[in-house]
Amino acid sequence: MDLCIFNRTMQKTVEGFSKLSKEEKIHWIAHNCTSNPESTKKTLEQYWNNNKTLQKVHDEFIENTLTNYYLPFAVAPNFLINEKLYTIPMAIEESSVVAAASKAAKFWLNRGGFKTTILGTEKVGQVHFMYHGEKQPLETLIEDILPIFYTATETITLNMKRRGGGIKDIVLRDKTKALGGYYQLHCTFETLDAMGANFINSCLEQFAKTLKEEAVKKGIDLEVIMSILSNYVPNCVVRAEVSCPVSEGKSEETVSRNFAQRFVQAILIAKSEPFRAVTHNKGIMNGIDAVVLATGNDFRAVEAGVHAYAAKDGSYSSLTHAEINDGVFRFWMDVPLALGTVGGLTSLHPLVKLALEILQNPTAKDLMKIVAVAGLAQNFAALRSLVTTGIQKGHMKMHLLNMLNQMGASNEEKKQLVEYFKERTVSNASVKEGLERLRKP
Ligand code: HMG
Repeated sequence: MDLCIFNRTMQKTVEGFSKLSKEEKIHWIAHNCTSNPESTKKTLEQYWNNNKTLQKVHDEFIENTLTNYYLPFAVAPNFLINEKLYTIPMAIEESSVVAAASKAAKFWLNRGGFKTTILGTEKVGQVHFMYHGEKQPLETLIEDILPIFYTATETITLNMKRRGGGIKDIVLRDKTKALGGYYQLHCTFETLDAMGANFINSCLEQFAKTLKEEAVKKGIDLEVIMSILSNYVPNCVVRAEVSCPVSEGKSEETVSRNFAQRFVQAILIAKSEPFRAVTHNKGIMNGIDAVVLATGNDFRAVEAGVHAYAAKDGSYSSLTHAEINDGVFRFWMDVPLALGTVGGLTSLHPLVKLALEILQNPTAKDLMKIVAVAGLAQNFAALRSLVTTGIQKGHMKMHLLNMLNQMGASNEEKKQLVEYFKERTVSNASVKEGLERLRKP
């Protein structure tokens, strides 16, 4: 608390900050928000790209940019999805996620790979308005002006319609039970390979304009509050699944009965306990977010929509399901994903372009499938560890490698120490001691 007051008194307000040049902004930040301005400037400048044109591209993505914020860009190979092999790019800071995804991909490679099905691609947007009169005249108005909504948006929808998409439906919804006087135009769209936010919002704002104009003509008093797409897309859903026979022993093509039973039990726990479900789904989002980010999509939109979907039956629950039926273990997930492979960052960010190329230039539907598989794989890897060795064994192994890298260990030293620590506890002191012992003549 004291620190907050201290900080508040130390910092100054600023007028016209957005109009300053990048160098002026850095100067202001360095001198007003940090204790060592020269070191601050150095830190920020060392992340600038030497290629000025490339740096300009990054500077212009958002406002008040000072420098670039790096995240590791990695790949997880060996994903067999609907009989096609993929290497999946992932942008993420958390260690063990890429390793876990890769390990799950390898595991399912010999067991038939991942199968996916698109269950729907419908996007949603709403015009929210208030109306306190009789319902019948409002219903008649909407019915009468329905064709005008389509004609008034023709210039916006022309190209999308040509490609096979556009407005799917416009429905009046009475929400007065939830909030007095609240109605909405609930609109659905097909936006094909675009995530569609701009297209949808442009259509909605035109619907709102049309609604107001036509209501005035008919003497109906309504007030439009706002028009905006919804990131909840319960009909833009993809299913990802894996399955294989259950066996009594260990085999390359099956899973053991004991493992399958414990795995199913872990899912049932996540279905019945929100505290567990949140962490369970966080593990799924490790995979989903990393691919969404690498491919330049809006991970906040995806996160919000996915968590709403996880609570769609009235209580927050597991997104994944598992069963053992007739000797077959099946593990699957239905997940809402509104993604784009055109527009936005996809044509601007060089690494996003590369990520899409690595994914063999997918359509939005293909990308939905790949992202869902990354989420399912991640959940599989985490649960596999949780119901067998526990999560720490793998984490400590990753941690060990990070520590050895920091300590400058050679490849041979790493190999020997990974073997040595298989049965020992990893800590900073024990790793240091192990390395020193190895280096003693
Ligand atoms: P391992 O069996 O010790 O690994 O697993 P390995 O060295 O024997 O290698 C086997 C394969 O794993 C490799 O094959 C790779 O595919 C992959 P190869 O490439 O040799 O042919 N792999 C790696 N890939 C890239 N870089 C690496 C690497 N290491 C292995 N360094 C592993 C080790 C960590 C993979 C395993 O223990 C595991 O899957 N653990 C689960 C880790 C996990 O789920 N992490 C996510 C973050 S934890 C979290 O936030 C979510 C959670 O709370 C969710 C929940 O509660 O449900 C857990």
